[in-house]
Amino acid sequence: MDFLQYQESAKAIQNRLNGFVPKIAMVLGSGLGGLGDLVENPIYVDYKDVPHFKPSTAPGHKGRFVFGTLEGRPVAVMQGRMHHYEGYSYEEVTCAVRVLRLLGCETLIVTNAAGCVRTDWNAGELMLITDQIKLQSESPLRGENLPEFGVRFPDASHLYTPRLQTLARENAKKLGLLLREGVYFYCYGPQYETPAEIRAVRVLGGDAVGMSTAPEVIVAAHCGMEVLGLTLLSNMAAGILDQPLSEQEVLDAGAKAKKTFSALVRACLAEL
Ligand code: HPA
Repeated sequence: MDFLQYQESAKAIQNRLNGFVPKIAMVLGSGLGGLGDLVENPIYVDYKDVPHFKPSTAPGHKGRFVFGTLEGRPVAVMQGRMHHYEGYSYEEVTCAVRVLRLLGCETLIVTNAAGCVRTDWNAGELMLITDQIKLQSESPLRGENLPEFGVRFPDASHLYTPRLQTLARENAKKLGLLLREGVYFYCYGPQYETPAEIRAVRVLGGDAVGMSTAPEVIVAAHCGMEVLGLTLLSNMAAGILDQPLSEQEVLDAGAKAKKTFSALVRACLAEL
């Protein structure tokens, strides 16, 4: 996509917003899209109605934006995201982030469900993402750089904004929630990892493993957005427990953690 096409996507959405300007973009992962239903004065825009966009096909993902206010803050909630495993290029996976940036978003809150790699943590717990590892496949920034968004070789020392990490820590404490902290390791799926792959991930420094987030965060940081990443550790990663992994387990965990997860995200939002 060239810059003009990003602008066309943004313009088409803007025409639906009656002057509303979102400041905080939120990407909600598997089973966590419910937060989007709490947005006040919502304006819904289906991905399929946005030029240059592809619909999201993953289960538990609605495939639309919800614009409105949450905790008094102007938000753009993505209920559903695109994944590489659905067949989308990384450019398609991350397109919405750039469009939301053009619409006015300065912050990205990104949530996901992921497998828990640490054997001393438990499924159902929440994790603050402090950094990420994406060693597999190409960068979403591969190809001609669009300088309107950012530089050719962007720094990645602080993809997850330290100030927002502090905010999440403080709010988890206030709410009495256990918030783990760790590194999100990206594996593009759609098959869950093998036990051997999980052992490799552990050696390489991953604490959670998942199929999303890392591409969007690279693109958000490239175009100057601050990022807060929160993970629901929906299941123990492959090989830790003597049982197969299933999508149902991930969705059930999302449903179960919905309340605490929403509470944490809302508390952080209120202070952004
Ligand atoms: N692996 C990869 N992605 C995931 C997992 C997992 O164990 N759980 C939820 N998303």
